[in-house]
Amino acid sequence: MKHKVTLIPGEGIGPEVASATRRILEAAGVQIEWEEIAGRAGDSSDQGQSVNQAAIESVRHNRVALKGPMATAIAGGAPSVNVALRKALDLYANLRPVKNVPGVKSHFENVDLILVRENTEDLYSGLEHEVVPGVVESLKIITEKASTRIARFGFDYARRHGRKKIHAIHKANIMKLSDGLFLRSVRTVAAQFPEIQYKELIVDNACMQIVMDPLQFDMLLLPNLYGDVMSDLAAGLVGGLGVVPSANIGDDCAMFEAVHGTAPDIAGKGLANPTALLMSALLMLDHLGERAAGEQIEAALMKVYRDGTHTTKDVGGKASTEQFANAVIAALPATVPR
Ligand code: NAI
Repeated sequence: MKHKVTLIPGEGIGPEVASATRRILEAAGVQIEWEEIAGRAGDSSDQGQSVNQAAIESVRHNRVALKGPMATAIAGGAPSVNVALRKALDLYANLRPVKNVPGVKSHFENVDLILVRENTEDLYSGLEHEVVPGVVESLKIITEKASTRIARFGFDYARRHGRKKIHAIHKANIMKLSDGLFLRSVRTVAAQFPEIQYKELIVDNACMQIVMDPLQFDMLLLPNLYGDVMSDLAAGLVGGLGVVPSANIGDDCAMFEAVHGTAPDIAGKGLANPTALLMSALLMLDHLGERAAGEQIEAALMKVYRDGTHTTKDVGGKASTEQFANAVIAALPATVPR
């Protein structure tokens, strides 16, 4: 079956890692018709420009997108294009699998975690105002609806992927109403999945526990802010943002993207590591029902890492983006048409 997928190559190293990823997927024989489109309206070098409405329409229509990183101006400028896309498409679940990659230096071995983060509310609602000069107020919004749907997403995911245990992360001892509502909503859903062990942990303790012993965790279910912080923290357990994928999923569409940024320091030099975007594309293949192709590519990717002679500079190797992609393609099974 041929899939139609929106490809937003992104900015900085985005087009380089997107092109390498696309080449590997094509070499693996996955049938995808790509609809390539810019994520930002107007000139991509102008960070003052906001999201391209045509990109939103393309994802709405195709329902699946692969996206490279997009730059965001700090303290001013246009709102983040990345956030605008997630909001416009109501991609309420952020999925972050965190796993060791052979040969990538890390603090732990055998880490295999799934983090599920609520993506639409909490302190990220953007509701801030100045009460009087020198005093600002930022509103933390938690709703039963959003908490219940993220919990349902997490428990459904656990059931479909044979996961055994979910920890809900909260601070309901202090934020009794907001985090309390999140927890009560999650508990209601957890009761409908008796085969999945359900536990709760206060966020500060969870941070300490995960850096002491990440192997005690299977899946974490988190409101937006704790999810943002803990998913980068978890990536740090296995070697950083360069080797972890992510997916933003809603009821109607899904967008798969690497969690790293545009890496302006190495953009255009052919040095970027496409692993994170490629792994995000593997989540996309799973979502598209192309699990067999995804497993073949993952096996080829791990072979390249185990071998270690064609890895990129950020993980201690010497290969260019292109050489790395070529090595992954060469490691695909011979039966794959090339
Ligand atoms: P960054 O992730 O772009 O770079 C941090 C460091 O990691 C740099 O030294 C960079 O060279 C390296 N790096 C990142 N990805 C790499 C890769 N694939 N291969 C090899 N090295 C890699 O973070 P930074 O510098 O904070 O952000 C740059 C821009 O990216 C900003 O405008 C930021 O807003 C944007 N950004 C976009 C994201 C997205 O589109 N989802 C996520 C994070 C940042």
